[in-house]
Amino acid sequence: MDDRPVLDSTFYGRAAWLYDRVATAPGVRSWRAQTVEALDLSPGDTVVEMGCGTGANFSYLRERVGREGRVVGVDLVGAMLRQAQARIDRAGWENVSVLRGDATSPPVEAADALVATFVVGMLDDAAGAVETWLGCVEPGGRLALLNAGRSPRPAAMPLNFLLRLFVRAVAPGNRFGRRSPLRALEDRWERARDALFAGTVDGREQRLGAGLVPLVSGRVSE
Ligand SMILES: C[S@@+](CC[C@H](N)C(=O)[O-])C[C@H]1O[C@@H](n2cnc3c(N)ncnc32)[C@H](O)[C@@H]1O
Repeated sequence: MDDRPVLDSTFYGRAAWLYDRVATAPGVRSWRAQTVEALDLSPGDTVVEMGCGTGANFSYLRERVGREGRVVGVDLVGAMLRQAQARIDRAGWENVSVLRGDATSPPVEAADALVATFVVGMLDDAAGAVETWLGCVEPGGRLALLNAGRSPRPAAMPLNFLLRLFVRAVAPGNRFGRRSPLRALEDRWERARDALFAGTVDGREQRLGAGLVPLVSGRVSE
């Protein structure tokens, strides 16, 4: 692993253990399972996860690719990757590994599928990243993205308020300037989603978690 201290001073560097608690809460786990389902993985596949964080998706990915497949997680933050590596070691997965690197110029070879959960909102050029990721997926493979954003459902207004507070708490520094971090995150999500649909076929979209958690996926054409 490259030991650059990039991003380690952010929330994710300081509170990786706390993030992992939230990331593996029961409701969140069901969103992860549904995201992995959207990848249509088969035993033996190689799947790459961009911005894998503490590896909260690994068990679902590993279950679908089996012993003969491969799971590769990429993240910039050493503290997150250390949690991810500890998860791999505890489970004894020999075919799951992590790499320190920038998801916008991924240090990986072509994969059968690619996934990024709660990541595109952090990327300045979210559409460009998705276009790059599509180039990392073999023809016929799927790319799935999961994110959080305000729910369009009227009954979810209190949840939208809580989401705004949460995003403010975890948004790294002042990288959004005077803009609402949640609005900036949603703009990036929309650009990422549009890039995914523009670059794939068989696009699918659903809203999980009372509408707060959009999930999109598409297949790279053969
Ligand atoms: C909200 S966390 C999501 C982690 C994980 N995907 C999950 O679902 O729990 C965002 C993650 O993206 C990582 N990240 C942000 N920008 C990145 C980049 N350019 N390259 C790689 N990882 C990045 C952060 O370090 C953090 O681990």
